[in-house]
Amino acid sequence: MSSIHIEAKVGEIAETVLLPGDPLRAKHVAETFLENAFCYNNVRGMLGFTGHYNGQRISIQGTGMGMGSIGIYVNELINTYDCKQLIRVGTCGTIQKDMSLGQVILAMSASGDADANSHYFEGMHYAATADFDLLLKAYNTAKKLNINTYQGSVFSTNTFYDDTPNRWEKWIQHGVLGVEMETQILFTLAKRFGRKAMSILTVSDNIITGEASSSQDREQSYNEMMRIALELA
Ligand code: ADE
Repeated sequence: MSSIHIEAKVGEIAETVLLPGDPLRAKHVAETFLENAFCYNNVRGMLGFTGHYNGQRISIQGTGMGMGSIGIYVNELINTYDCKQLIRVGTCGTIQKDMSLGQVILAMSASGDADANSHYFEGMHYAATADFDLLLKAYNTAKKLNINTYQGSVFSTNTFYDDTPNRWEKWIQHGVLGVEMETQILFTLAKRFGRKAMSILTVSDNIITGEASSSQDREQSYNEMMRIALELA
C-alpha cells in the first residue's frame, strides 16, 4: 500500500524523517551524507530517500513550499508510513535587525497566518510548539559541534509576497526571530497525531533590510544545519 502523494511501500520510510522544502535538497543531502540511499518517491517530483547515517536508518522527504504542501506530506508520512520523528530543515527570513545571515534557529514555537490552523481550532489560536526532547537534543548536538544556535519563536506565513504596511512590527516587538512557510502546521499535525516534530532553520535573508545571502554562504550554513539534524537523529 502507498499514499496519494508518496509512492513508497509501507516500511520503506524510516521512523525519523528530515523535511527540506526543496526536493533537490533532499536528493543532494541523501547523496552527500547517507549510505546506501535509495529514492522511494517521484510523485510530482517531490523526491524522498531512505538511507543510513552512522548506522541509523533515516529518510529525507521534500515537502514543497507552504503549509498546504507540507501538510499533505506530513499527514501521509504519519498516517500511512507511521513516521515518529519529523524534523524540518529549511531556511527563513529574519525580522530582527541584529540577527546575522547564516544563523541557525531552533524553533521553539510557531505563530502564523494559516487558514488550516485556525480551521482545526474553529477560529481560536493554538500555540504550536516543538517537541521538547528533540529540541533539547538539537541544542546539545549543536553545542557539541560548536555551532551557535538561537532558540525562539518563528512565524509561518502563507504569503511570501505581501506589501501590507508595517506587517512585521508587532512580531518584531514580540521577539519572533524568523519568518518561513511550513513550521506551524508541522508542529500542529505532529501534536495532533502524537508524534515528535521540530524545525531547524538557517537565516537566508533579512526581511526588514532586504539583505540576502549568496548561494555559497547558503550552502555552508545549510550544511551546518544538516549536521545538527543528522547527528541528533
Ligand atoms: N523563507 C526564507 N526566506 C523567507 C522569507 N523572506 N519569507 C518567507 N519565507 C522565507
